[in-house]
Amino acid sequence: LALPLGVLQIPLARIRSIESMTSPATRPFQRPLPIPPVLAPVRSDGEADYYEITQKPGVAHLLPGLTTPIWGYNGIFPGPTIEARSGRKTIIRQMNDLPVPVSTHLHGGHTPPSSDGHPMDFLLPVDPSPFQASLTDGQMKQFMSPSGLGRSLHMHMQQSKEYVYPNTQRATTLWYHDHRMDFTGAQVYRGLAGFYLIRDKIEDELPLPKGDHEIPLMLTDRSFNADGSFFYPSLDPTLKTTPGVLGKYYNGMIGDTLLVNGAVQPFLEVSATKYRFRLLNASNARVYQLELSSRQSFVQIGSDGGLLPAPAARQTIRISPAERFDVIVDFSQYPVGSQIVLKNLLGEGQTTDIMRFDVVRRAKDDSLIPKTLAPFEALNPANASVTRTFQFFYGLGMWTINGQYFDPNRTDATPRLGATEIWEFTSDGNHPIHLHLVNFQVLSRDGRAPDPEDTGYKDTIFLKAGEKARVIARFEDYRGLYVFHCHNAEHEDMRMMGQFEVM
Ligand code: C2O
Ligand code: CU
Repeated sequence: LALPLGVLQIPLARIRSIESMTSPATRPFQRPLPIPPVLAPVRSDGEADYYEITQKPGVAHLLPGLTTPIWGYNGIFPGPTIEARSGRKTIIRQMNDLPVPVSTHLHGGHTPPSSDGHPMDFLLPVDPSPFQASLTDGQMKQFMSPSGLGRSLHMHMQQSKEYVYPNTQRATTLWYHDHRMDFTGAQVYRGLAGFYLIRDKIEDELPLPKGDHEIPLMLTDRSFNADGSFFYPSLDPTLKTTPGVLGKYYNGMIGDTLLVNGAVQPFLEVSATKYRFRLLNASNARVYQLELSSRQSFVQIGSDGGLLPAPAARQTIRISPAERFDVIVDFSQYPVGSQIVLKNLLGEGQTTDIMRFDVVRRAKDDSLIPKTLAPFEALNPANASVTRTFQFFYGLGMWTINGQYFDPNRTDATPRLGATEIWEFTSDGNHPIHLHLVNFQVLSRDGRAPDPEDTGYKDTIFLKAGEKARVIARFEDYRGLYVFHCHNAEHEDMRMMGQFEVM
């Protein structure tokens, strides 16, 4: 098997023993929920807002008395939030002050290929020499000239890169994260993820909770070493020979500690009013089934691709890696002093309590949940020009699609620009399946109606073992080469990824 880049083992982690896999114990609800800062543009003109981000090492204070080295956009985890307007460009200059190559993907963005953050669209370190020195000559040759990439013209090596996001899409919650081939899991785990919110006029005019009553919640899980650093076993080649350990992690990194916006099990003081929470699962592999301890329903108003046509009550919400759910929680029924815990019904032990809402005051609430939210165009299966099938199965010692692992020199589908297509996915395990560029709509699961979590415009669908789902998408906006993949980051790194080229 020729693995152009998978052979690059960079010594990112010290060797760990198995015993170090249990994180230092933490007490829940000790820290207020941090809100990632909104990044200010360095300048703006008639058509765009311009930003600069440096990806660099930083230090986080996650565990009492310990520090955690992280990698972050501007050195923080989560990265700063980008606020964008539908129809107005965002231009971000990314600089790489990390010791490894990166590629930055705007997840859910309708982005031209040159700015999409293809896994091979490397941005080299500002100082590439230590990285280059870590490679053998053969690896260096492979790295610098991956064969056959001529037809994907956007792939190049550079040390700062301008990403242009046209934002020609409706208001929604997107996120940006690292997408370097074979190392996405390791690099996102270290902290390379942030929110990117698009707003538009339709949303502005709705009386939804706004300002400090509209809060992004990035759910992640991590395990820690005794010294406070993140534990990530697949960075450690010696674990491949340790029986049982790789077995526990090859299926994806499940951390034993839950964080929200980069804080371990935080609390948030709320007034007895409605709040809008933009939920994002930025975990590598963990799937959550969310419920409030009071068993009050969430009111879902949006999904991956923006607002739903109408709000929908959800007693619980299953959220797999990369999915977003936009929900309203109304705290007005609770007396001051109430504490409501956001729980993960799929967790065990330490991992059931995600965060706590403390109702600390009464307040006037002008917000409403309107009966209708935003227009929705249902795609008609009769207009689909083709049905493609993709099997997401374990195989070849890695993870495969239709029996093949990712090869950047292979294109797996060539939809025509403007075409509507049905894609059918089957699965042998838990696979959150994500398409770049497009939103899709879920037509069916195992021939039945879609799950409640499938509602609306989606870019990621969660499949359980043995499930089959049909989704429909229109391949619009841009021609060019994009990837689709399992968003379990370790499955993705172990090549459960394919490419489509819009022709
Ligand atoms: Cu959020 Cu290709 O990924
Ligand atoms: Cu998977």
